Amino acid sequence: EHNPKAVIVIFGATGDLAKRKLFPSIYRLFQNKKIGREFSVVGVGRRAWTNDFFRENVKESIESSIHAPEALEEFSSHFYYHPFDVTNPSSYLELKDVLHNLDQKYDIPGNRMFYLAMAPEFFGTIASNLKKEGLTDTQGWSRLVIEKPFGHDLPSAEQLNNEIREAFSEDQIYRIDHYLGKEMVQNIEVIRFANAIFEPLWNSRFISNIQITSSESLGVEDRGRYYEKSGALRDMVQNHLIQMVALLAMEPPIKLTTNEIRSEKVKVLRALRSISGGEVNDFFVRGQYGTGQMNGKELPGYREENNVDDISNTETYVAGKLMIDNFRWAGVPFYIRTGKRMAAKSTKIVVQFKDIPMNLYYRDGENLDPNLLVIHIQPDEGITLHLNAKKSGGGIFTQPIKMDYCNNCIDGINTPEAYEKLIYDSLCGDATNFTHWDEVALSWSFVDSISEYWQTQIADFPNYASGSMGPKAADMLLEKDGFHWWPIT
Ligand code: BG6
Repeated sequence: EHNPKAVIVIFGATGDLAKRKLFPSIYRLFQNKKIGREFSVVGVGRRAWTNDFFRENVKESIESSIHAPEALEEFSSHFYYHPFDVTNPSSYLELKDVLHNLDQKYDIPGNRMFYLAMAPEFFGTIASNLKKEGLTDTQGWSRLVIEKPFGHDLPSAEQLNNEIREAFSEDQIYRIDHYLGKEMVQNIEVIRFANAIFEPLWNSRFISNIQITSSESLGVEDRGRYYEKSGALRDMVQNHLIQMVALLAMEPPIKLTTNEIRSEKVKVLRALRSISGGEVNDFFVRGQYGTGQMNGKELPGYREENNVDDISNTETYVAGKLMIDNFRWAGVPFYIRTGKRMAAKSTKIVVQFKDIPMNLYYRDGENLDPNLLVIHIQPDEGITLHLNAKKSGGGIFTQPIKMDYCNNCIDGINTPEAYEKLIYDSLCGDATNFTHWDEVALSWSFVDSISEYWQTQIADFPNYASGSMGPKAADMLLEKDGFHWWPIT
């Protein structure tokens, strides 16, 4: 399927995600002719909006994120709004008629994409009603696209999964992890498996450690209510960070099919050493931002934010050391860190190679730097290889040099948004860059044993200043192994 024809039903169409990401992404697919005339979008939500009001909303969202959009009227005419009560069966029957009429109007062969971009407590209800009222019973395909959070621990994720599995089979379910739609996250596999110079070194004999940083400069903003129950471990580590670890650590798949790639990722997660009880303190560090200064502005601490408890024990920062107990990675730490209100918004992976066996050269009296391969995920996209070369002028002195490739520096190349690619993949039936249930379950069980231990201990919060790179203890985590965090800016 390369020219998908479908009705996309967005649950939560009046919400923030739809406005910020989904509408602009669908527009870009239209603009780039990835979808043609044969598509329609039905927004459903509790509010009593009209089609016209909905279309205005769609146009505004696109105008605010895309420069000089064309054919907006034509594009937005494909959008319809349907007021909806998720618990009322007659809502589904009405929607069924709407979809049927749209199929006829736009020549769509009964293909349905149900996109759940709303509060997760209704995911199960919606899925089962869609099936019960016959909305998935068409000539074409039906798919369920589901946003995070996928549960808040393993038992709740299992329950949610059982509910949606009653109505949709695993291959109809597309669990979004938007990091898997990022250009440079998708590039990890290519860099590794399309180059003869990396893969032979990609193991415990030549790599000393791998560091993944995903820092944010924003605070919790208006999401206090959600974030208080989540925290950085569930919000970022369980999904995005662990997914990046899996891509960095997996074995080469025998083919580039969805099943082969997923099964290699699952094997990594099965080898991930489980950390529990008191040993959590040796492997993980949590933090919460206090007040601080950024760009000359005084910022409040997390506990002062809206909808946050003033003695909140919720972590806004996590650093951890992950060990993958398999043949390739035995003994190689994967350090991860992520947090809010840090010094910069940046996601980077640093692969640090082992030192050469003997130092023949000097760098102005110091030892040589190790070779690093840096994968820049965002905001800049690219790779940098850190090497040592001769210092001009003679002698046995070296200087560090960098070989850079920048993916998004070339004028005119506008890398597609993660959501644009993921929506397109799900329309085409390609689930490779979505999380399989086995991956979700394994990463929850890893994360659960850490949060269970943390819940038994009152944290000494706040412990890092807004605008810093996190608590001191996160530096110690590497120092006790003889390493340090490589700067990310
Ligand atoms: C989301 C988290 O999954 O990822 C947010 O819920 C976080 O808290 C966001 O801000 C970060 O995504 P990105 O693409 O901006 O790095």
